[in-house]
Amino acid sequence: MSSSPSFAEVRSRAVERLVQGVATSDGAGVRLTRVLAQPLQRRLDPFLMLDAFRNENPDDYIGGFPDHPHRGFETVTYMLAGRMRHRDSAGNEGLLEPGGAQWMIAGSGLIHSELPEQEDGLMEGFQLWLNLPAKDKMVAPSYRDLPASAIPEFVADDGVRVRVIAGDSHGVAGAVQRPDTEPLYLDVHLPAGTRFAQPLPTGHNAFVFVYRGEVAIGGTAVPERHMAILANDGRDGVAVEAARDARLLLIAGKPLNEPIAQYGPFVMTTGDEIRQALVDYQSGQFEAARVRAL
Ligand code: CO
Repeated sequence: MSSSPSFAEVRSRAVERLVQGVATSDGAGVRLTRVLAQPLQRRLDPFLMLDAFRNENPDDYIGGFPDHPHRGFETVTYMLAGRMRHRDSAGNEGLLEPGGAQWMIAGSGLIHSELPEQEDGLMEGFQLWLNLPAKDKMVAPSYRDLPASAIPEFVADDGVRVRVIAGDSHGVAGAVQRPDTEPLYLDVHLPAGTRFAQPLPTGHNAFVFVYRGEVAIGGTAVPERHMAILANDGRDGVAVEAARDARLLLIAGKPLNEPIAQYGPFVMTTGDEIRQALVDYQSGQFEAARVRAL
């Protein structure tokens, strides 16, 4: 843990739009909020989806996400509370615990399950889908389990705590670095009366999701359980102010500017590639996939 970065002034991007997301369910009846959905994929390229789940009632999560395929992108699961076990078609498995994450590169495809390893209590976390460039959509699948202790963090003098899942913040390198999309994924905890600033490349798309409390960005209030899409207005970062305790995700990445063809858990660049994914899936190729642990 390092301390005391000075959050040098940035000219903060403005909030372009607030998004509340849609309550839905996925897997075997897991209730969740789809914060980033298909209509925002162009605007928030390279990000394809963000689901937020926070369920106290086991009926709303106990079914989990039984066996299902993925091809053509990366999934990032970040747990705040509760435990989830993942297993894949190659026989790998791992346990996601509070404060930990799993980074999976689905690439050419695999089948996996994500199932709660608890029968009661709070289950809370997020799943982000990050697109792969066309040239890498068929790479061999792999994943990395990141226990809480593997996620670098720092605490500023005023108590602002930043967990760096991916990218780089104030000289602290995140647990994961990815080429092409250069994702930044921060979990920021702001005590009441504090401020956090993060430089962002002007060409990158960026958003904030407030999961506790409320913050202000450029004078715009961002309430709890809302995503703020940050304007691509040429300014060099984002500054977040919290009048009361707040927690948020700050996510940014370099757009791929490639066509997006999605059919459920397959995200490719053309309809032909989607049809091929279905053929490959139906012929059992995904079950035979070898999945590397990185
Ligand atoms: Co999955």
